[in-house]
Amino acid sequence: MSKPIRILYVDDNPHDRALVRALLEKEHGGFQIAEAASREDFEARLEEGEYDLILSDFNILGFEGLQVVDIIRAKNPHLPVVILTGTGSEEIAIEALRRGVDDYIVKTPNHMKRLPHMIYSVLEKKRLGEERTQVQQERDRLFNFSIDLLCIAGFDGYFKQLNPAWEKTFGWTNDELVSKPYIELVHPDDLKRTTHTGHNLANGIQVFSFENRYLCKDGTYKWISWNSYPLVEEGLIFAVARDVTQHKLMEEERIQSTQKLIKAMESTIEAIATTVEMRDPYTAGHQRRVAGIVSAIAREMCLSEDQVHGISMAGIVHDIGKISVPAEILSRPGKLSKIEFDLIKMHPQAGYDILKDIEFPLPIAQTILQHHERMDGSGYPAGLSKDAILLEARIMSVADVVEAMASHRPYRPAIGLDGALEEISMNSGILYDADVVDACIRLFREKGFKLE
Ligand SMILES: [Fe+2]
Repeated sequence: MSKPIRILYVDDNPHDRALVRALLEKEHGGFQIAEAASREDFEARLEEGEYDLILSDFNILGFEGLQVVDIIRAKNPHLPVVILTGTGSEEIAIEALRRGVDDYIVKTPNHMKRLPHMIYSVLEKKRLGEERTQVQQERDRLFNFSIDLLCIAGFDGYFKQLNPAWEKTFGWTNDELVSKPYIELVHPDDLKRTTHTGHNLANGIQVFSFENRYLCKDGTYKWISWNSYPLVEEGLIFAVARDVTQHKLMEEERIQSTQKLIKAMESTIEAIATTVEMRDPYTAGHQRRVAGIVSAIAREMCLSEDQVHGISMAGIVHDIGKISVPAEILSRPGKLSKIEFDLIKMHPQAGYDILKDIEFPLPIAQTILQHHERMDGSGYPAGLSKDAILLEARIMSVADVVEAMASHRPYRPAIGLDGALEEISMNSGILYDADVVDACIRLFREKGFKLE
């Protein structure tokens, strides 16, 4: 059984008190009533007891009008109060509600029948109000203590509500932030993207991980990453943002040091290529043309710019290992003996050994090591097959064959581009990666690519 509702009822008319008690006691233990017949009595009981609701007559000896309400409010501002009035005048009703009375009822038998129901509904309203207040307080606490930047912004271009993290992050006061259009704080280089994102939000599109820079009071900018949710009907954007400036700076440093490493790698590769050029101009020319073909195939296959760059660098020096092969064998016309061919077959490993200890951010030494491997495992030096061969090396092997067959050599005439493309297309999927062959043929046949 639920606890009875504790009521303090103040009325100096014994007849009315008996009437109300009878009415409420009909509710089978739902109410526990304490009565007061005078001001002193009322104040004493209010002081000593705990009540869920105060029921009070409008006119009690010792009180002036609704003074009773002020006394209750002074003790407990949230204690519900219902007033009973003999007259039912509109002024009394208005005055009662103005003073914070929760409801009032006219003392006629007909009206009084509603009293129990009225008490229940006043208490239910109070309970809901308290729940709402609690939710609001929890939300406020979260809003105020969050180190993330929380805000509600309007489609009109102004912030409506900001949490204290904004002041801490940017140095502007809350008033300064809400008084100017927020676009004024956005970095000029980010304006276009920010405006575009604003249009998306206005069209009801949620935005994740959008980054832009915001002006601080000291004139510097900070990078902010936003997650924003629009409420189109209300013209509002709810957003959570985070200061990612440190992260951005670290990212910038990382990019710069990678670029430095790539620059160093390029200089190293160039130095090696120049050395080869002095000793063996034919191989050097071959390498540069292969580099042109591999980067074009890599782009055609939509590889990343880093991969395109890496494979081009590998192309320029892919035959570097040939410096370990006597020049007479490399340039001699006619068929090679087994021993001579075995010597030539060592060049991928020799090239790998030369480059393997130099720190490259891209798999250059590995690509060189595998550039004579074949898809069916018939290549050298390791006899790797299919996916065990790096994509870069699969591209290199196709470009190497096409260039070698299409170009003139001191020891044999050129077979020509058509013959070269026929060779790779015949062996597509057998010796060569079919996707690479397709890309290579597209380049020459459809996209007008030419060997320099
Ligand atoms: Fe080679």
